[in-house]
Amino acid sequence: MDIKIKNTGTAKLTIGEDSYDLPIMAGSMGVPGIDVRALHKHSGHFTFDPGFTSTCSTESQITFIDGNKGQLLHRGYPIEQLADNSTFLEVAYLMINGELPNKAQNAEFTKTITNHTMLHDQVESFFHGFRRDSHPMAMMCGTVGAMSGFYHDDTHTTVDEARNIAMYRLIAKMPTIAARSYKYSIGQPHVYPNNELSYTENFLHMCFSVPSEKYKVSKTIVNAMDKIFILHADHEQNASTSTVRLAGSSGANPYACIAAGIACLWGPSHGGANEACLNMLREIGTVDRIPEFIARAKDKSDPFRLMGFGHRVYKNFDPRSRVLQKVAHEVLEELDLKNPILAVAKELERIALEDEYFVSKKLYPNVDFYSGIVLSALGFPTSMFTVLFTLARTVGWISQWNEMLEDPSQRIGRPRQLYTGATERDYVPIGKR
Ligand code: SDX
Repeated sequence: MDIKIKNTGTAKLTIGEDSYDLPIMAGSMGVPGIDVRALHKHSGHFTFDPGFTSTCSTESQITFIDGNKGQLLHRGYPIEQLADNSTFLEVAYLMINGELPNKAQNAEFTKTITNHTMLHDQVESFFHGFRRDSHPMAMMCGTVGAMSGFYHDDTHTTVDEARNIAMYRLIAKMPTIAARSYKYSIGQPHVYPNNELSYTENFLHMCFSVPSEKYKVSKTIVNAMDKIFILHADHEQNASTSTVRLAGSSGANPYACIAAGIACLWGPSHGGANEACLNMLREIGTVDRIPEFIARAKDKSDPFRLMGFGHRVYKNFDPRSRVLQKVAHEVLEELDLKNPILAVAKELERIALEDEYFVSKKLYPNVDFYSGIVLSALGFPTSMFTVLFTLARTVGWISQWNEMLEDPSQRIGRPRQLYTGATERDYVPIGKR
């Protein structure tokens, strides 16, 4: 990765009698950043930014978000155009390599991924170690982390081919592990990958086919699933991607780093929100109960939040939620499903977007607002929603992990703190306390 940020000016910082010139660094698009790398050395001060609301943790060339415009680009391509015209594997190639593949590159990449879809047969035993009622995300975390015990060669992250094979294995095996977790949780026999099928059709086949029946899935459903994977593939330095980068900055095993990202994504404020959002829509149940929940979301004494609404970066529509609203209609029409929850979701969206509280705080539907409706219509239980997010986000995680390892300025991540604990004191023997 070539360093492309440029010094475009100077910020003056005055502390008491002293003043410091801090370089202003800018990228190709977006908000410039004040370079504080030498701040502590020269001024004896840290910056303080819990939750990193105003902090750039890295330079990156993979994804760009303009939260005010509701813009999301992957290597410069708008998410709407990728969702409408591309495939998930093509987007994976784009994220890793920086350019869309030509026909030959796409065929070669697809063949490579296809040839790594099976799991080492001993991985099978991991699933039998889980209780049947384990959450599929627990199985994802445990199994992906355990893969670091199967592929020793991939751990040499300084070697290009070791990094590449680890990335290909993770992209290829995530659907197999996800489907295996699902089948195990419902007590059905697991289905081996069928490499005659496309990546996404193969995943649906591993999830929903059973040995006793022929399985056929419509192109509309396969395209909808593939589109959902594209929409969830990457999203700048979100919590789980930052977790993967921080773990990877120590040179940790790639499978262990991705397992750390899975653990972070599982949280209800992050990737777990699609499951929480559908559960919320089901709890609301009918349109006439919406005002009660809007009131609760605005009540500071009530911890309830409108799941699927709000975002740290988007202060406009999350462009992914608009695409997902369209996909929701396509899937429900294809499956001839009348889902009353969709009516509740659309009315909730309409009311919230007119409500002063949500307008003033710029709380718009995010990627998780419609995804639960679509995934439920496709036949997935809510416990699988974040697993599907994990499958898709693996492409973003490994692309960001790889970019970090190729970054010549990369160092182990080690934030500081403002300490407010006890000042130094001497030990008091137990008899004298
Ligand atoms: C994802 O980072 C990413 O890119 C994530 C993601 C990705 O692709 O990786 O986009 C995926 O995680 C989407 C977000 C899914 N989470 C949810 O839908 C959960 C509900 N949303 C919130 O919990 C919240 O909006 C967050 C966590 C998403 C963002 O939190 P922030 O940026 O820390 O915002 P905040 O909590 O400081 O909220 C600002 C104000 C607060 O009110 P005040 O204290 O200013 O009075 O808005 C309020 C909040 O109380 N608020 C909400 C709300 N979200 C924020 N009030 C009601 N309902 C909500 N959903």
